[in-house]
Amino acid sequence: MRTTSHVIALLGALVTAGACRPSPDAAQSAAPAVENRTVTPTRDEHSYAEPDVVAVTHLALDLALDFDTKTLAGTATLDLNWKNPTATTLVLDSRQLRIGGAEAGDGTTWTPAKVDIAEQDPVLGSKVTVTLGRQAPKVRVRYTTSPDASGLQWLTPAMTLGKKTPFMFSQSQQIHARSWVPLQDTTLVRFTYHAHVTSPKEAMVLMSANNDPTAARDGDYTFAMPQPIPSYLLAIAAGDLVFRPITDRAGVWAEPAMADKAAAEFSDTGRMMDTTEQLYGPYRWDRYDILVLPPSFPYGGMENPRLTFATPTVVTGDKSLVSLIAHELAHSWSGNLVTFATARDAWLNEGVTSYVENRVIEALYGKDRLDMERVIARNELASEFTPANVALQPLAIKPGVLKDPDDNLTSTIYTKGAWFMQFLEERVGRAQFDAFLRGYFDHFAFQSISTVQFVEYAQVHLLDANPGKVSRAEFDAWLNDPGVPATAPQTKSTRFDAVDAARKTWLATGTLASPALTKEWSTHEWVHFVEGMPPTLSPAQLKALDGAYALTGTANAEIAQRWYPLTIRSGYTAARPAIADFLSRIGRRKLVMPTYRALAQTADGLRFAREVFAKARPGLHPITIGSVETALAAKPAS
Ligand code: BES
Ligand code: ZN
Repeated sequence: MRTTSHVIALLGALVTAGACRPSPDAAQSAAPAVENRTVTPTRDEHSYAEPDVVAVTHLALDLALDFDTKTLAGTATLDLNWKNPTATTLVLDSRQLRIGGAEAGDGTTWTPAKVDIAEQDPVLGSKVTVTLGRQAPKVRVRYTTSPDASGLQWLTPAMTLGKKTPFMFSQSQQIHARSWVPLQDTTLVRFTYHAHVTSPKEAMVLMSANNDPTAARDGDYTFAMPQPIPSYLLAIAAGDLVFRPITDRAGVWAEPAMADKAAAEFSDTGRMMDTTEQLYGPYRWDRYDILVLPPSFPYGGMENPRLTFATPTVVTGDKSLVSLIAHELAHSWSGNLVTFATARDAWLNEGVTSYVENRVIEALYGKDRLDMERVIARNELASEFTPANVALQPLAIKPGVLKDPDDNLTSTIYTKGAWFMQFLEERVGRAQFDAFLRGYFDHFAFQSISTVQFVEYAQVHLLDANPGKVSRAEFDAWLNDPGVPATAPQTKSTRFDAVDAARKTWLATGTLASPALTKEWSTHEWVHFVEGMPPTLSPAQLKALDGAYALTGTANAEIAQRWYPLTIRSGYTAARPAIADFLSRIGRRKLVMPTYRALAQTADGLRFAREVFAKARPGLHPITIGSVETALAAKPAS
């Protein structure tokens, strides 16, 4: 890196950190802030952008959406805030984009600018350098996306519920926005946006912006996002989508055959919003709508502002998986409002959000339900802690550990992060902790902050403000040590005690629990029942369970995710047709990966997995394809 830009970067960081500090008081100046501030990230290791030189403040998209060519094509106009008065180059991120050219100007007159596109890095994409004759307030880039853009999926009509209209959607987090817009793809930059998108008339286009529930479907759509957002929250989707209101500020978009089911499943969304507002202050994003995607959506949910994207696999008919909505809604505070500075600080997004999610679930559905969700999450966390991933076990990841930011989607950032928050809450008291978090969201609203900044703020407003409750060493252990500290509060679930007893009796005697008991079981209890089984069962035992509960072929993907690996490990090939069906229907990475990994353990399983994957592949998202390919590339142990 050039020395001059390095100095400027450091200065930029000092200025940013200074601006973020709480109002000065005695305790603040006593905190070890100064030495820490020098380690505040100056650069995002996953972006080529140089926001300390020039920062994008507004994006105007003018795009044509074409299902036939699987492309978005048009222009992105970037408003620029030049921080360095002499600089004339704008560095942008891109991946797989075909860039036709760029111009610099003031919005009325434009002059051509020079564009250099560097060779593609497998993780980061291609650095784009736009060289201007002199500083200008705007740069306009002409481009077309690739049909294999890593952040977009294009679905044929056959891959939708309605089978008539094609579908497309984006998934920008973590660094895939650059595959559909040339921009500064870093959490350190926030911008507002406008968009004009044309599409075939049969498609409704939606964005992470001011979607109008009554918009005419005419193939010509405009959007405005007045609140500044980081690039990973930029989102678009198009398809045969209809709207169902839930409250006057919340609703559901889905394909017609899914719309009523989804609206019923998510009917508590208004109460979730009210509850979160009571805890942490007003919802600042105007509407909160949910878009239910086709089953190939690679994640459970994505907190795109004003328009959460959700997998259809949580629409189970009994609201048992709506913690997903509580989670994505919670990101409206932790994440979208107060954003992690770099992927290494991801726990600030996902951990705090999972804690808020837990609070909402407790408030709406009670402590019993929360306890079950906690036990399931913490069992998963425990199984994740292996000597191989010690570097990913601290909440605060060290620089250089994360090659691909998509790799930090661990239980650690979610479950250990939420557990840390619960620990703090129990030590200082609920009322004090609620006030702390609310103040934290207000203080850092619309900023991107690092773990160091969180620590500085917590030192003053949590540790010093509640003397004698949590020592700094206890606090730091959660952030910096692998595993879970001995200070962690333990959770027990009485409803799971009954499940454990039923499983134990069956394993010992072959006697199944009475239907009177199991008919009361929710998704959680079934998940726990299956997860607590020994690593393998005999085919006869599996057959007995199937006879009683029809687990093979279950419509509930959370249960399938646990059941199929057990059948595979046990050599119960009777489940194979159902497994093939599951893997070709569902594309949510978390749900399918355990089954692919279990299959990859034996030569025969691997053969079967490759066969199934070859058929499923055209319907899968690039993110899921990448993970499955990695899992199936490995040679089986035997
Ligand atoms: N923001 C995440 C999804 C994400 C994280 C996408 C990192 C890409 C990179 C979202 O809020 C999330 O956490 N989704 C979870 C569901 C949730 C209930 C834990 C998921 O998709 O599993
Ligand atoms: Zn999340």
